[in-house]
Amino acid sequence: MVPALAVAAPKQRKDPMKDIAVLFVCLGNICRSPLAEAAFRREADEAGLAARVDSAGTGDWHIGDPPDARACAEAMRHGVDISGYRARQVATADFREFTHIVALDEKNLADLRARMPADATASLSLLLDHLDGSAGQSVKDPYFGEAEGFSDTWAEVTLATAALVRQLATNLR
Ligand code: 4NP
Repeated sequence: MVPALAVAAPKQRKDPMKDIAVLFVCLGNICRSPLAEAAFRREADEAGLAARVDSAGTGDWHIGDPPDARACAEAMRHGVDISGYRARQVATADFREFTHIVALDEKNLADLRARMPADATASLSLLLDHLDGSAGQSVKDPYFGEAEGFSDTWAEVTLATAALVRQLATNLR
C-alpha cells in the first residue's frame, strides 16, 4: 500500500520552468501594442527581469507594416526606436508559446478569448488590470485622433507595464 503523504505538496506556479514570455495585443499592432512592447522592454531591462516580449494585432490590415509614424515619433521622444518593429496578427500558437497575453482594450480581450484554443497555456489579461485604480479600463485607441493622443498612450502603457513587471518579478521570488 502506498502511504498517504503527511505533508501537502507546495503550491506551484502553473509551469515553474517556463520562461516569462509576454505578448501585447491591440487591434492593428501599429499604435498601442508596439508602444506597450517598447515600454515593457525598457521597464523589464531596468528591473533586471528576463522576459521574451512581442506584440500582435487581432486584425490583419497592417501585417508587415511598421508602427504608425506618430507612434514611432512618440517612442523616439522617449529614446526608443521602434521603427524596425513589424505588425503581425495573433496566431493560435501564441496561446501556447507565450506565458502572458495582455490585451490593450476590452474588445481585444474578448476577441482573444474567442480565439483561445482548448490547449492554451497563456494567461490572458487586460493591461490596465495590472495598474492599481485602473482595473477594467481600456487603453484608448489613438489611431483616429491627434498626435497628442500618442503621448497619453505612452504615459499609460509605461505606468501599466511598470506595474506588470513588478508583479511578474514578485511572482518569481
Ligand atoms: P492599434 O490602432 O490597434 O492601437 O494599432 C489601430 C490601428 C489601425 C486601425 C485601427 C486601430 N485600423 O483601423 O486600421
